[in-house]
Amino acid sequence: MTLPFMPGPFPMARPRRLRSQPWVRRLVAETTLTPSDLIWPLIVHDGAEDRVPVPSMPGVFRLSPKAAAEAAKEARDLGIPMVALFPNVDAATKDAIGTGATDPDGLIPDCIKAIKDAAPEIGVMCDVALDCYTDHGHDGIVEDGRIVNDASLDRLAEQAFIQAHAGADVVAPSDMMDGRVQAIREALEANGFHDTLILSYAAKFASAFYGPYRDAVGSTKMLTGDKKTYQMDYANSDEALKEVAMDISEGADMVMVKPGMPYLDIVQRVSETFKLPTFAYQVSGEYAMMQASIANGWLDQDRAILETLHGFKRAGCSGVLSYFAPQAARLLGA
Ligand code: PBG
Repeated sequence: MTLPFMPGPFPMARPRRLRSQPWVRRLVAETTLTPSDLIWPLIVHDGAEDRVPVPSMPGVFRLSPKAAAEAAKEARDLGIPMVALFPNVDAATKDAIGTGATDPDGLIPDCIKAIKDAAPEIGVMCDVALDCYTDHGHDGIVEDGRIVNDASLDRLAEQAFIQAHAGADVVAPSDMMDGRVQAIREALEANGFHDTLILSYAAKFASAFYGPYRDAVGSTKMLTGDKKTYQMDYANSDEALKEVAMDISEGADMVMVKPGMPYLDIVQRVSETFKLPTFAYQVSGEYAMMQASIANGWLDQDRAILETLHGFKRAGCSGVLSYFAPQAARLLGA
């Protein structure tokens, strides 16, 4: 890349002039981070207790629908526009096809309703994938040890419909089956949900950084094998553009790159190429990694949170999903 201007020689050019005082640094900042840029992921559960700590994610709790509604009020008060729901359901209810995913009276519909009652001003986003409900821990249907694509689409479309019906504003397919966005969009349109937004996890990579999340939702012990036949290979970047292009053509309103920090190059390419609201997910492993360092006194918590989140904005994100969302919003003066 060539610069649009040639800086003159020292001492005429002293880049430090623009850094000399807080006011001028603020004045010339190229990007901003505000609470409006944050999406707060909430782990919800069907257990009896309101808040159960997740050991691998210090500061994160599995929440009952009632506690999720409280969190949503907190999000509203902090100026966070949206929460995203991820379910931990009783292992005894899990089966091969993830029946719980399409239960209209299930945990997620309960949480959506509780949140909409408590804080109707904020958006509710739901993950579309079967892994939290299947006894094999995969995002789709498994036949003869293989994750079958097309048979999974009906289940995913029904799951998204159930979420929209319960009041979800945004459905977010994170399953990485081919054609899922189209299947979901068709199901939504056919049932009158014309305004339900689809935020597709378009470029989702098979990642070690989902480890703590799988603990949080209780799918670690369930998972047989890995997710490499559907989640992307981290060696690839052009392929991410293909995935995003397909999801847009199938009806996605917004797209996401996941994980976050190790994939900012992908964020930048996607946002520059498509000029569409682009999000990234600072996932559980990134959160756990930072929390571990913070707990050891190796990283300064507040500075590390803001710096990493700001990096997403600089790379071209419209917003970021982060478990640090409420802390960040507080630091930003909400
Ligand atoms: C499930 C899903 C995953 C995450 C969000 N939705 C994990 C996975 O694909 O195994 C990860 C979130 C995180 O790590 O914070 N489809």
